[in-house]
Amino acid sequence: SGYTVGIDIGGTKVIGGLVSADGRVSREVRRTTPGRDPAAVRATIASVVSELRSGADVLAVGIGAAGFVDADRARVMFAPHLAWRDEPLRASVAADVGLPVVVENDANAAAWAESRFGAGRGEPDLVCVTLGTGIGGGIVRDGRLYRGRWGMAGEFGHMVVVPDGRRCECGNRGCLEQYASGNVLGREARELALAGSPVTVPLLERVGGDVSGLVGPVLTQAAQDGDPVAVELFEDVGRWLGVGLANLAAALDPGLFVIGGGVSDAGELLLRPARESFRRTLTGRGFRPFAAVERAALGPQAGLVGAADLARLSLP
Ligand code: BGC
Ligand code: NA
Ligand code: ZN
Repeated sequence: SGYTVGIDIGGTKVIGGLVSADGRVSREVRRTTPGRDPAAVRATIASVVSELRSGADVLAVGIGAAGFVDADRARVMFAPHLAWRDEPLRASVAADVGLPVVVENDANAAAWAESRFGAGRGEPDLVCVTLGTGIGGGIVRDGRLYRGRWGMAGEFGHMVVVPDGRRCECGNRGCLEQYASGNVLGREARELALAGSPVTVPLLERVGGDVSGLVGPVLTQAAQDGDPVAVELFEDVGRWLGVGLANLAAALDPGLFVIGGGVSDAGELLLRPARESFRRTLTGRGFRPFAAVERAALGPQAGLVGAADLARLSLP
C-alpha cells in the first residue's frame, strides 16, 4: 500500500504522477523542461514532488531521465538533449525531498511500465522504442529490465544507420534519431515549407503561415485528417523505424516491439509503414517468425509509471 511518485523528464516536457502498486495514476502534473540548467531541473523535480505528495502517503520517488544513467541508478552521466553531465540526481533529489529516490533512463522506465501494466503484459522478451524529442529504447529480457554492464543499454536512438549522415546532438553523425524522431518530423516539414513547395500550403494554413509552428502534434493531426504531405512524413519516419527494428531483432530477437513516445500518437499512420519496412528488412525473413509491432498502451504516462514502479520495487 501507499504511493510512489514517478517523474518523467524528457527533452521538452516533465510529467509527474502519483502511482499506486497496480500502476494506476491518481494525480498528474505537467511542466516544461528547463532544458539548459540542471539546477532548474532539480527545482522543478522538487516542486512536482511536493505538489503530488500533499495529503498522500508517499514511500519513494522514481525518476525517468532522458539520458545515460549509471549502473547504480544514481547519476545521469550524459544527456544529448539536456544539460546533465555526470549529474548526481539521486543524491540531490533525495536531499530535497527526504525520500528514497531511484533514477532510471526514461525509455527503460517506459519499457518496464509497458511490460508490467501495458502492451507487453504476458510477453517476457520485449523491446520498447520511444519516439519523442529523440529516440529512446528499453529491453525487457526474461521479464527483467536489461540495463547492460554500465546501465546504458538501450540507446537505440544513437545506433548509426547512415555513415557520415545527419549530425546528432550526441556528437556523432547518422544516428537513427536523426531520421525517425519527433524532432525529425518537424524538421522535415519545416524544411519542405521553407523550400517554398506548394505541397505544404495546406500545412502552413494550419499554423497561420508560421513555419515554426510545424511541430509534432500539428503534423499528427494533419496526417490524421489525411493531409498527403503529413502522411508521407510519417511514412518516411515509419520506414526508418522499421529498419531500426530489423537491426534490433537481428541483435535481440524479441517477441514484441512496443512503440511509444509522442510520435506514436499517430497510430497506424506510423506503425503500418514501420511494420512493412521491418518485414522487408529483417534478416532471415521467410525462415523465422516476425515479432509483433504494437503501439504502447500507457501513452505519455509510461515513463512515470515505470519509474514509480521501479522505485517501489527498490524499497526494502
Ligand atoms: C537519449 C536517451 C533517451 C532518449 C529519449 C536520447 O537522445 O540519448 O537517453 O532515452 O533520447 O528521451
Ligand atoms: Na534506454
Ligand atoms: Zn546520436
